[in-house]
Amino acid sequence: MSATCLLNNTPDADIVAEFEPRIIGFLCNWCSYAGADKAGSSQTPYPPNVSIIKVMCTGRIDPQFVMKAFNEGADGVIVLACHPGDCHYKEGNLRAAQRHAMLIRVLEQMGIEGKRCRFDYVSAGEGEKYVQVITEMVATVKQLGKLSLID
Ligand code: FES
Repeated sequence: MSATCLLNNTPDADIVAEFEPRIIGFLCNWCSYAGADKAGSSQTPYPPNVSIIKVMCTGRIDPQFVMKAFNEGADGVIVLACHPGDCHYKEGNLRAAQRHAMLIRVLEQMGIEGKRCRFDYVSAGEGEKYVQVITEMVATVKQLGKLSLID
């Protein structure tokens, strides 16, 4: 079985289906973590690929945390924040969004596709949005394939 389809240079459909990406999710305690909890309590099914790290605010996330996640085997990273105006620390989420934009440029310079690192907003009441974002992220990273870093 080949790793890519020779006709269109996309990952082989069987490989995409078999590959289960490891994704690290940095979730704000006040909003997105509660959104994930709501998704769980409503028993809405979603892919189990995301390992959650709860943070008190996305403004606390140092870009090095994301780099460490990739360095230790993550195929994708997702950062979920309070909506603009809802951050408990006023503008931590806005700073996180700015850092994310810069981080994407750095990742791409290192040869890591920007789509492997997603930033989004999920509130405590948005269990359905949480499911949607996680499902989309898993599908995106499956399509990209396993991340292999060269030392
Ligand atoms: S408190 Fe949720 S992103 Fe700042």
